[in-house]
Amino acid sequence: MPSITNRPVIELAGVGKVYGKGEAEVHALDGVDIAIERGDFVAIIGASGSGKSTMMNIIGCLDAPTFGSYLLDGIRTGDLDEYQLAQIRNRKIGFVFQNFNLISRTRAVDNVAMPLAYAKVRRRERRERALAMLDAVGLANRAEHKPSELSGGQQQRVAIARALVTNPVLLLADEPTGALDSHSSAEILDLFDSLHSSGRTIVMITHEMDVAARAGRVVRMQDGRIISDERLKPFAQPLLAGAL
Ligand SMILES: Nc1ncnc2c1ncn2[C@@H]1O[C@H](COP(=O)(O)OP(=O)(O)OP(=O)(O)O)[C@@H](O)[C@H]1O
Ligand SMILES: [Mg+2]
Repeated sequence: MPSITNRPVIELAGVGKVYGKGEAEVHALDGVDIAIERGDFVAIIGASGSGKSTMMNIIGCLDAPTFGSYLLDGIRTGDLDEYQLAQIRNRKIGFVFQNFNLISRTRAVDNVAMPLAYAKVRRRERRERALAMLDAVGLANRAEHKPSELSGGQQQRVAIARALVTNPVLLLADEPTGALDSHSSAEILDLFDSLHSSGRTIVMITHEMDVAARAGRVVRMQDGRIISDERLKPFAQPLLAGAL
């Protein structure tokens, strides 16, 4: 779903997340403020336990903050109930995970088409859009293959096609190259580059500094806080979201 506002895609203000109670209380996030503009490519890095996944879960509307506010594409998520959160998650966010999370006995094209079924798109259009998206990630000739018949890098490209098929405002990737060898990682990062060039907004969590260096902006977390926020490449907000 294309963006409907000129606001940043993501606005976190004073966001905190506390797990557990009393002695066992953990402040996984502790007052995070960040805005991410449309068309930006942001890497989030930090040591294990610094709060990256907690932040990803909040950005992805998979979990709610304990305090503070989160606006996704101008929508105040704190006002939404579970059902509305699930809807906004499906419409506005494409997820990419370390382990691809494809359905193993299902062909690539049907994996990619799946989110369109939830969005109640008709069968023929689902297939057409899924094939077009596989073409966009360079896998037109693998559409009828099952995940087990594809390399890791190809599986991740299928997962990226699936994440983008609904045309979300945000691509949210958690260690997208974590399970890949260096050659496949480079392919995925090249694909992110071209998605970014065509106007996609990407937020990517990674442990690896050389992966983060491919982003336009690097946000470093420590103990649930943002300790640095550095722009690596000049950023111009795109006038139009691209076709890819
Ligand atoms: N469900 C939970 N219950 C209690 N504590 C949690 C829970 N999830 C995370 N934490 C704690 O919150 C802190 C932040 O965890 P988080 O998973 O966000 O870290 P991370 O930066 O993603 O780490 P990693 O790089 O290892 O994935 C950690 O101290 C963790 O132990
Ligand atoms: Mg994590």
